[in-house]
Parts: sequence; structure tokens; C-alpha cells
Amino acid sequence: MARNKVTVIGAGHVGATTAQRIAEAGLADVVLVDIVDGLPQGKALDLAEAAPVVGHDARVVGSNDYADTAGSDIIVVTSGIARKPGMSRDELLATNAGIVSSVVKDSTAVSPDAILLIVTNPLDAMCHAAMQASGFPRERVIGMAGVLDSARFRTFIAMELGVSVEDVHAFVLGGHGDTMVPLSRYSTVAGVPITELLPEDRVRALEERTAKGGAEIVSLLKTGSAYYAPAASTFEMVDSILRDRKRVLPCAVQLKGEFGVDGLFVGVPVVLGRGGLDRVFEITLTADEQAAFDKSAAAVQELVDAMASLGA
Ligand SMILES: NC(=O)c1ccc[n+]([C@@H]2O[C@H](COP(=O)([O-])OP(=O)(O)OC[C@H]3O[C@@H](n4cnc5c(N)ncnc54)[C@H](O)[C@@H]3O)[C@@H](O)[C@H]2O)c1
Repeated sequence: MARNKVTVIGAGHVGATTAQRIAEAGLADVVLVDIVDGLPQGKALDLAEAAPVVGHDARVVGSNDYADTAGSDIIVVTSGIARKPGMSRDELLATNAGIVSSVVKDSTAVSPDAILLIVTNPLDAMCHAAMQASGFPRERVIGMAGVLDSARFRTFIAMELGVSVEDVHAFVLGGHGDTMVPLSRYSTVAGVPITELLPEDRVRALEERTAKGGAEIVSLLKTGSAYYAPAASTFEMVDSILRDRKRVLPCAVQLKGEFGVDGLFVGVPVVLGRGGLDRVFEITLTADEQAAFDKSAAAVQELVDAMASLGA
């Protein structure tokens, strides 16, 4: 049986760490691609040289040429730039939309049946750019954000209650970032909603810390942003797809009327299997939750409109 093949575009912090997780789990052969000559080759060789010690047979190669990515089952897109001093959000949006569109065009041309997993920020808008550039159906364009956001929420809940992270489940909806919607009544410890275990002000504080989780890491690191948890989250999605596990994970997908939204990529719980998006896992929201979700969707719409007006 041929081994699975995963292309990871962008050999930076998130891309290289994702490649490491996939290879070290022996889940698939990995092709690491970057625009910088030598960077993906160097990191891939380093990862390959870890294989005898770690004990796996996955092949890891680095390249600047999309021909090497042909026939990939999954393409993970992490390429992009972070905001630099003096750069507006719109400039970042236009630059990364350009990068995502071009790498998606080049990679999908040689892997027309692949599933695209988008990681580059601003996440929800980049999913739109990737869908446009690939012409792929919604089942095969999926954004990573909710798994990370809920992992952060689970971490903070476990810390607060002094329990194992394993017994904590968290539920988040909405776009990636400030307008994220943590659903605390569905976030549980051993099946018990955290709203029954913690006073309301503590629940709100944990939700707030989760929504600002990315910024908290950036302010500590000072240069660069989080990558261990983002890579672990991306790996969980790759694993559910390649092993057809049908995990229920919060991901950014294009909604077609679900949760009252049409045509926009927004984070919702979905079932992930070998074909990518198997189905959206729809739940009934309270009026307050729906209002927060609608606000989050409106923020995504604003970014998509800005991207269109910038000609990106
Ligand atoms: N969705 C999420 O939850 C989440 C979490 C963490 C990071 N991110 C995003 O992921 C992206 C990557 O973050 P990082 O920390 O790995 O950044 P990084 O700067 O370490 O890596 C980005 C890499 O992309 C490469 N690149 C740029 N243009 C390219 C092109 N045209 N073709 C191929 N490669 C190209 C760069 O050379 C660099 O190596 C950022 O946009 C970041 O905001 C998203």
C-alpha cells in the first residue's frame, strides 16, 4: 500500500513543527516547501536525520519546486508573513492573500485531489482565497483555528480546576480571534458543564484569556507567534482525515445555510474524515450565542470585502 503524502507549504515555525509531528507519528511522507532556497531542504534533512533515533520510516524531503509535491493527499498551507511595524492589517491581508493564492494554485495543479488545510492568518479570509484559487469544493478546503482555540480553552479550564486536560472538553465557534465564541455550557469536565463548576466571573475570565490566547504568546515571545500548539492542532486534523477517524473538531468551513450563514468560512464543529469535511455538526444556539456567532461572521465578511476591494 502506498504511503500517504502530505505537503506542508511554509517551512517556518508552524510548518516545520507540523512536518515533525506528522513524520514522527509515521502518519505520512512529508514534503516541506518554502520560497527560501535551502530552508526546507535543511529542515527536512534535519528531520530525516532524527528518524533513526525517534524510530519511524516516514520520508521527509524539502523543496522549492512544486513538482516534488505531486500526488499529495493533504496540502497544509502555513506560508505567509507576519505583520511588520508600520504595516496595516489590510496590507497584511493583501500580501498573505497573494501568497496563499499563488501557493494554492501551484500545489493544487499537481495534486488536484488533495485536501487543503489552511493555517495562514487572517485565517477565515485565507480560506476564501484558497477556495477561489483552487476551485475545490467546500469538502476539501478547511481552516485550522478552532482546534487551537479550544485547546487553549481546555488548558485554562484544566489549570483553573486542577484536573487532567484529558478530561476537559471545550466547544468554540466563530472566526479566529477576538470574535471567537466559546460555548461554556457545552465545555465540560468529565461531562459536567464548566458553568456548574465555576462562578460566572471565572468562566468569563477563562473565555477572555482564550480569545486573546494568541496575543498572550506574542507578547511573551516578542518576536514571532505560537507554533507548538498550532502545529499540534493541525496534526490532529491531518490525523483525523488520513485515518478516516471522523473526529468532531471545530474547523473553519464554508457554511451553506448552517448556523444561518451562507457562503462564508466560519469556525463550526465538523466531522473530519478521509474526504475532508464529512458534515457540519449543527447545534441549536441560544439567542445570545447566535448573536455572538453573527457578530463573528460579520467580522469575517468585513475581511472578505476588504480583500476584494484590495484586489487580492
Ligand atoms: N490558524 C491559526 O490558528 C494559526 C496559528 C499560528 C500561526 N498562524 C499563522 O501561520 C502562518 C505561519 O506562521 P509561522 O510562525 O510559521 O511563520 P514563519 O514566518 O515562521 O513561517 C512562514 C514561512 O512562509 C514562507 N513563505 C513566505 N512566502 C512564501 C511563498 N510565497 N511560498 C512558500 N513559502 C513562503 C516564509 O519563507 C517562512 O519560512 C502565519 O500567517 C501565522 O499568523 C495561524
